[in-house]
Amino acid sequence: MTTQQPYDLAGIGIGPANLSLAALAHTQPGLTAAWYEQRPAFHWHPGLLIEGATLQVPFLADLVTLADPTNPWSFLNYLRHHQRLYPFYLSERFHSPRAEYDDYCRWVSRGLPSLRFGHHVDAVRWDAAQGLFGIDYTRLGPDGEAEAVGRAHARNLAIGIGTAPHIPGPLRPLAERPVVPVIHSADYLDHRERLLAAAHITVIGSGQSGAEVFLDLLRHRPPGRERLHWITRTPAFAPMEYSKLGLEHFTPDYTRYFHALPEQRRDELVARQWQLHKAIDHQTLADIHDELYRHSIGGGWPDVVLTPGVSVRTAGRIGTTQVELHLDHAEQGERSRLVTEAVVMATGYRERPLDPLLAALDPLLHRDAAGRITVDERYRLGLDREVTGSVYVLNAERHTHGVGAPDLGLVAHRSATILNSVTGEERYRLPERSAFTTFGLRPGGGGEETPGGGAAGAGAGAGGQRQGARRVSV
Ligand SMILES: Cc1cc2nc3c(=O)[nH]c(=O)nc-3n(C[C@H](O)[C@H](O)[C@H](O)COP(=O)(O)OP(=O)(O)OC[C@H]3O[C@@H](n4cnc5c(N)ncnc54)[C@H](O)[C@@H]3O)c2cc1C
Ligand SMILES: NC(=O)c1ccc[n+]([C@@H]2O[C@H](COP(=O)([O-])OP(=O)(O)OC[C@H]3O[C@@H](n4cnc5c(N)ncnc54)[C@H](OP(=O)(O)O)[C@@H]3O)[C@@H](O)[C@H]2O)c1
Repeated sequence: MTTQQPYDLAGIGIGPANLSLAALAHTQPGLTAAWYEQRPAFHWHPGLLIEGATLQVPFLADLVTLADPTNPWSFLNYLRHHQRLYPFYLSERFHSPRAEYDDYCRWVSRGLPSLRFGHHVDAVRWDAAQGLFGIDYTRLGPDGEAEAVGRAHARNLAIGIGTAPHIPGPLRPLAERPVVPVIHSADYLDHRERLLAAAHITVIGSGQSGAEVFLDLLRHRPPGRERLHWITRTPAFAPMEYSKLGLEHFTPDYTRYFHALPEQRRDELVARQWQLHKAIDHQTLADIHDELYRHSIGGGWPDVVLTPGVSVRTAGRIGTTQVELHLDHAEQGERSRLVTEAVVMATGYRERPLDPLLAALDPLLHRDAAGRITVDERYRLGLDREVTGSVYVLNAERHTHGVGAPDLGLVAHRSATILNSVTGEERYRLPERSAFTTFGLRPGGGGEETPGGGAAGAGAGAGGQRQGARRVSV
């Protein structure tokens, strides 16, 4: 068991969310911090770095720029460091290849001395006597084997443990003993050659992952002999909302408005807003159609079935080479059986549960009516007063902060908000207004309007509402 001096801030997990926090913290004088990550090095969704796939946000949504364009860990500085600024400038690309974003993040991760890779955090606890959090970790060897355990101490925590692939219940037994390839899209590239060799392939799910996997398979199967099924429970192969005003849902103004809404209203909204974060980007839909069209040149229809509105009820193995899926079509009320030789489950991700990490804090945690953690506007967990330190969450707050929680365009702003809170100073000056849309009729999306027309309380920064001179009583 090793011990160190207590840090001001300790981070758990190093995905883009905590990497952004580490990059913005790096330039802050007097702040001591360390981040722990179970993987041996940074890697961003490696199983889905399909050639040609791009980020769904402009390059300005890097780890730091939207909070501090002068920070040395910006994407533009990464290009400069690699002497690629001129090629980038001439390429006129706003949406970088996903592989380039991964490479950029790896460059940042190699430059930050506060990052500890190969460290799995097992538990955190609150030591009231010392006024510190204890962080218990296991140091892992190159093959993931446990090498040693240790404990660090910190005044504040930043938990950014991200999401894990979701495998629907009926498919779990098949995925656990995969004689026939039954894989999640998160592992697609590791299994691509095996999948392409299968006589028939089924892709399940029509988010961006399902669309990218289907397109890649289609491009590599011979016209007329594609033998591909693409089925999804979503009622349509739907486009992602990407209009300029629609994208204002991914601004600090909307986050603030959403946070101030009642819990039930927030839950209804997240369910209704699925086309803001699930669904498929327009270009991928166009590319799929183009590819299907190309496969039909010469007269025949491609040997492909695309059916929305279908869910997998049960599934089973047939011998050692096939899988059968029992399907339900919701609108028709029909059932059918599909025999296939390989399955890609592009069935999405779920937030990694915080409970195993926070078990020792459980009696001190505040919960909402549905039993979920509460998170204030500065991303702090609700904790009993006896805990004088703060636990910040990054990308575990969709229920309190809305659809922007996992979005890369908001990571820098969230990190800067957290650092201002940890230091108790305005180390990063954040914009008072970030959207042309005025969300809601009351200032600050829920704060009280003062006689002078300003906004009081948590929502005071939503400057857009201040200009709306007309007051409406409802
Ligand atoms: C394929 C894919 C593409 C995406 N593309 C975009 C996009 O273009 N634009 C966009 O806005 N959003 C995108 N997203 C959504 C989101 O931005 C990403 O999922 C992003 O990776 C989230 O970052 P994160 O840091 O919260 O979590 P993650 O990237 O999941 O990182 C969490 C890290 O925590 C580590 N960890 C977990 N538990 C522990 C523990 N106990 N101890 C130590 N380490 C631990 C994990 O190993 C992991 O490395 C995409 C999501 C996916 C799945
Ligand atoms: N290029 C990129 O930047 C890129 C690439 C990949 C992913 N992403 C992002 O990563 C996030 C996750 O995307 P994702 O595509 O992995 O997941 P997703 O958007 O959550 O989509 C999951 C899909 O699986 C379907 N599904 C789930 N269970 C099912 C079942 N039992 N039977 C049939 N269908 C089922 C869902 O249907 P329902 O709608 O009914 O739930 C949905 O169509 C998104 O924000 C996405 O934008 C980005």
